[in-house]
Amino acid sequence: MANTITIPRHLLPADGRFGAGPAKVRAEQVDALARAGAGLLGTSHRQAPVKELVGSVREGLARFLGLPEGYEVLLGLGGATAFWDAAAFGLVEHKAQHLMFGEFGAKFAQTTDRAPFLQASSIVAAAPGARPEPRPEEGVDVYAWPQNETSTGVAAPVRRPAGIDDDALVLVDATSAAGGMAADLAQTDVYYFSPQKNFGSDGGLWLGAFSPAAIERIERIGASDRWIPDFLQLTAALENSRMNQTYNTPALATLIMLDEQIRWLNDRGGMAWAAARTKESSDLVYAWAEASSFAAPFVVRPEDRSTVITTVDFDGTVDAAAVAAVLRAHGVVDVEPYRKLGRNQLRIATFVSIEPDDVAQLLRCIDHVTEQPGAVGQW
Ligand SMILES: Cc1ncc(COP(=O)(O)O)c(C=O)c1O
Repeated sequence: MANTITIPRHLLPADGRFGAGPAKVRAEQVDALARAGAGLLGTSHRQAPVKELVGSVREGLARFLGLPEGYEVLLGLGGATAFWDAAAFGLVEHKAQHLMFGEFGAKFAQTTDRAPFLQASSIVAAAPGARPEPRPEEGVDVYAWPQNETSTGVAAPVRRPAGIDDDALVLVDATSAAGGMAADLAQTDVYYFSPQKNFGSDGGLWLGAFSPAAIERIERIGASDRWIPDFLQLTAALENSRMNQTYNTPALATLIMLDEQIRWLNDRGGMAWAAARTKESSDLVYAWAEASSFAAPFVVRPEDRSTVITTVDFDGTVDAAAVAAVLRAHGVVDVEPYRKLGRNQLRIATFVSIEPDDVAQLLRCIDHVTEQPGAVGQW
């Protein structure tokens, strides 16, 4: 029944990509790739043109993030997932504390908890849809949480917890937040992310802003007798990043699209502009859900609701998966919920590249689909 529903063309968004990552790549980013063409693609990452590109990414990010004095932008291969392993080896000295309120926070927690050379991690959990607070604990030398839990749409403040040891490091996973949400980096020691969300590039890289204390920790652990696989050596990332290189071969297309997006963001007003735009889009979704007879924001406390990943629960009268299927048949894609959450829900990204007008159109599409009598009912 559901697949017989037609959405009129005038209701469709101009761009139908609302996925939580990989996420919408703007046409100008693809153009930048074509322009780079033979001048850059297929050339050595150890030579000036690609090193200048990496340098431009590092400088552009420093500007966008408002890098505090002494902080450095480092990068490496393998995305945020590889960075978790690298951090377990090269940033946690004895024990980490993790806030766990979704899949991504949980994965990093598991990484340090299982590392045989570290003490069992302190894991502070909250049910999906809510978030826990850090608990200062003597002997914990890394505190870690995601700024935006992509699996649930819960956002957490970027704030150094009061009462933690002076030399403890604060690691914030900004994979889906950076580029679309504001943060004061002085509150963090490592603010890291992958570029396939707000930065609209491809996956495969991790990037991060590192404080002098984090760099000192990397150098100290790197010089100790702890065995660290070469690929995960943060000392190698430090050394190479300072030369505008990566330890091994990067995807040049990813860097080109990332560089283009950082320029676009900086030209438009940087972090404040980006944060205002994602708030505008996400406010549309939450206001729509609150006013709806069958939908409601999944994240109960308004202050915990993400401005870049919105999650909306449907009651039993409407099947969200059926709605998502109709949307998909019309080129409006990736609004299905996070697969392991198992809820009757839509997850709609409101990343900075997504036009607020397109979000408004998407909501009109959902209204249209759900108004068809009996078409997508009963979860
Ligand atoms: C918050 C968060 N952290 C980490 C990751 C993992 O990133 P990657 O797949 O680039 O390793 C993701 C991916 O969606 C994420 O959303």
